[in-house]
Amino acid sequence: MPESNLSTALEYCQQNRGRFLEELKSLISIPSISTDPNARPGIQRAAQWLADHLEHLGMKNVQILPTPGHPVVYGESLDAGPGKPIILIYGHYDVQPAEPLDLWHSPAFEPELRGDNLYGRGASDMKGQVLATLKAVESITKTGSLNINLKFLFEGEEEIGSPNLGPFIAVNTELLACDFALNPDAAMIAADIPTITYGLRGLAYFELRISGPRQDLHSGLYGGVVHNPAQALCELLSGMHDAQGRVTLPSFYDSVQPLSEEERDELRRLPIDDQYYLEQCGAPQLSGEAGFSALERVGARPTLEINGLLSGFTSEGIKTVLPAKAMAKISMRLVPDQDPTEVHQQLVRYMEMNAPSTVTWEVIKMAGSPPSITDRQMPAMEALSQALQETWGKKPVYKREGGSIPVVAQLSEFLGVDSIITGFGLPDDNLHAPNEKLNLPNFFRSVEALTRFFCILGEQ
Ligand code: BES
Ligand code: MN
Repeated sequence: MPESNLSTALEYCQQNRGRFLEELKSLISIPSISTDPNARPGIQRAAQWLADHLEHLGMKNVQILPTPGHPVVYGESLDAGPGKPIILIYGHYDVQPAEPLDLWHSPAFEPELRGDNLYGRGASDMKGQVLATLKAVESITKTGSLNINLKFLFEGEEEIGSPNLGPFIAVNTELLACDFALNPDAAMIAADIPTITYGLRGLAYFELRISGPRQDLHSGLYGGVVHNPAQALCELLSGMHDAQGRVTLPSFYDSVQPLSEEERDELRRLPIDDQYYLEQCGAPQLSGEAGFSALERVGARPTLEINGLLSGFTSEGIKTVLPAKAMAKISMRLVPDQDPTEVHQQLVRYMEMNAPSTVTWEVIKMAGSPPSITDRQMPAMEALSQALQETWGKKPVYKREGGSIPVVAQLSEFLGVDSIITGFGLPDDNLHAPNEKLNLPNFFRSVEALTRFFCILGEQ
């Protein structure tokens, strides 16, 4: 697209800000919570909303495709022809649950503008970023022509680990064939630092169930004769890290790729130090694996976290009970070349080696997704870098991210395709937490950045 067309497209972005905001509010007000079995209607409505939107944008072959779980929304524009690249734009329309509801200052699914921020579940992760891709395409098609081919792939199960997306991609390789994917589901280091993410951690998620006596017991009559399952669970969990903060599952670090000195140097130059993390999370002190910086521990080292604990009496008041069962949700964040299946075996092996014979146990696999690293030399990276630089007036930084986005490894496995990962959320957007928000000036900048990105790709 010639320069003048880019400027009319950017003008369009500016002039339509009010309507973009209204559309964003309408998408955020749909409660598309993927993990909630009662939220099916919300999932369906969000999928329909996106399909309608793709139709209005003039996309062809728009479909809501069923999976054994939540549907995939697809649409394409292939008019630029075979001489131009096909870019697969990924997004997820599902969101995390809003609980605890009483901590929200305005209802999670009634988006409210306070100051520069729009509050609502999914505002930043990632309905804002999904809409930004759509509005960038609209700005180009309404003012000129799109000189690239696009395929949209919107899923509804990212926040539960994309269990059905891998198989979906595997049987739809022709429909989804592309040169590379754009994945805007990551975030920025700060509002003035455009960021390209070149590494994501994987995830392996489990439920660990411990059982003892047949049923709950009086803790006075039986305390002292049976091993309390809650205590056994705590003993097992506390053994999963050593004094250096390393995970003790057998062979856990065997396939972990060490960081090169070169990469460590580069990561050290990013403006993210311990102080940054202290401020972001408000903990009294940082903690973690010895010998690595906070940024390295999050981006390039594996971890094991307890995500939830359940046992015994937790309501108000007292109840002298010896619980029959205890359960923990635990997950590991994985780095190359770890594999969720291997980690599952390591957890089972740890239990075989350490579980006392006073209790029985069960490990249930809940989700698994491999880690990923992107080739930073791919040509489209340069186009994105240029688009970000022109928008923020600064070269982007390259970062490894601690979060997970399962589709990246799935696209690489089933289509052999790389993903360019970026994102426009900010560190204080409260992802997965109460009062999630989207910074609007940053959102409008992201629409402009993506408009530039698509235009630059069209010129190549
Ligand atoms: N958008 C996040 C991941 C993310 C956030 C990446 C910020 C980079 C920067 C994504 O929606 C997410 O939360 N994913 C889950 C995936 C899991 C359920 C498999 C995660 O990381 O916990
Ligand atoms: Mn997300």
